[in-house]
Amino acid sequence: MPFLSTTLSRVKPSPTIAMTAKAAELKAAGRDVIGLSAGEPDFDTPQNIKDAAVAAIAAGKTKYTAPDGIPELKKAICAKMSRDNGLDYTPAQISVGTGGKQTLYNALMATLNDGDEVIIPAPYWVSYPDMVLLAGGTPVAVEATLENNFKLTADQLEAAITPNTKWFIFNSPSNPTGAGYSRAELKALTDVLLRHPHVWVMSDDMYEHLAYDGFEFCTPAQIEPALYERTLTCNGVSKAYAMTGWRIGYAAGPVELIAAMRKIQSQSTSNPCTISQWAAVEALNGTQEFLTPNNEMFVRRRDLVIKMLSEIDGMTVPTPEGAFYVYPSIAGLIGKTTPKGTVIDTDEAFATALLDEADVAVVFGAAFGLSPNFRVSYATSDEALTEACTRIQRFCAELA
Ligand SMILES: Cc1ncc(COP(=O)(O)O)c(C=O)c1O
Repeated sequence: MPFLSTTLSRVKPSPTIAMTAKAAELKAAGRDVIGLSAGEPDFDTPQNIKDAAVAAIAAGKTKYTAPDGIPELKKAICAKMSRDNGLDYTPAQISVGTGGKQTLYNALMATLNDGDEVIIPAPYWVSYPDMVLLAGGTPVAVEATLENNFKLTADQLEAAITPNTKWFIFNSPSNPTGAGYSRAELKALTDVLLRHPHVWVMSDDMYEHLAYDGFEFCTPAQIEPALYERTLTCNGVSKAYAMTGWRIGYAAGPVELIAAMRKIQSQSTSNPCTISQWAAVEALNGTQEFLTPNNEMFVRRRDLVIKMLSEIDGMTVPTPEGAFYVYPSIAGLIGKTTPKGTVIDTDEAFATALLDEADVAVVFGAAFGLSPNFRVSYATSDEALTEACTRIQRFCAELA
C-alpha cells in the first residue's frame, strides 16, 4: 500500500508557481533574472483597503466568522453583482473562500463524481484540470485556436458535450491569453448550453475589471438569464485590487450548491481570514477610482510588450482584450538551436533556455494546454519589460 494517496499521483504541482520559484532561486543566487511569470499585479493594495484591515484589527475583529463569510461581505458581493453584472443574488447564494482558487475547488469537490466530465477551453488556467482530477472528475480540454484569438467556438463546445458533461468552465478575460469574449461570442456559447440542460457553467470572472480598449466585460448568467439556475459566477479581489496575498475569493450561485460548498469549507479551512474579509468589504464598497489609472498603465505595458515581441521573426503576438498576459506563438522558432546548442523542440525547451541563457522567466505554453506558445505576464515595470523584451529579441535573433 503506498503511503501517499493515489489521487495525488494524478496531479502535478502548479507550473506557474514552479517557474516563479525557479526565477526567485536564481535571483537569490545572484543572477540578474527578470521574472515575467508571476500572476499578480506589481502595485500595492490601495490604502483605503489597508486602512480597513487595520481598523478591523483595532476593533477586535480577529475571531472566527461563519465558515463561508461575514454577512457584511456577502452583502457587499450582492451589491457588486447587481451594480457591475446586473445579477440579483441574496447572501444565502454567496460563498466566500480563501482566494478564488478555494471557491472553484470547493464547487468541484461538492459536485464531481467518478466519470463526470468538465469541459475546459485550452489554453486554460493551470489549476482547472488538476482541481478536476483532485475532485475525482475528468477534465476535457478543448483547444481554441490562435486564429480565433484563443476563443472557443459554439461548434467546438457543442462537439465536446457528452451525457457525462457536468460543468463547462468559462474564463474571460482569460489567464493565460488575456482573451475576452464579446457579448455575441458569449451568446453563441450560451445558446449551445441552453440545448444541454444537464451542463452547469462555472464562470471564472477573476479578471473582470482588467479590460482594455473599450472591451465590455460580460458573464454567462447575465447574457443568458435562463442559465442563472445552473451557473456559478466566481470572482475575487486578488487581481483588480492587488490583493493576491489577502486570499479572498467568492462565488454566487444556487443556494443548494452554495450550502454544499459551505459544508466542505466548514470541515476543511473554516472561514477565510477575518481581517481580509473586512478589507474585501472596503475593496468592493469603497472607491473604485484606481481601476482606471491602473488599467491605463496595463494597456501601455501590454502595447509595449506586443510591439517589441512582434518585431521578432517567427513569433506571432495576438492583442488580448484584458488581464495582464500575452500569449505569443513561437511556431516559427521550433526546430532552431541556441548558441549554447539547446534545440528548441518544444515551448518548454524555449522557456527553459530563455531562463538559462537570457535570464528571463516566462511560462511555457504546454502548462496551459496549448503549444507552441509562452505566457508573458506584463504586471511589472516598464523598465523591466523593456529590458526583458530586449533580451528575448536578442535570444531569438541568435537562434539558428
Ligand atoms: C483565472 C484565474 N482564476 C482564479 C485565480 C485564483 O485567484 P486567487 O489568488 O484569488 O486564488 C487565478 C489566479 O491566478 C486566475 O488566474
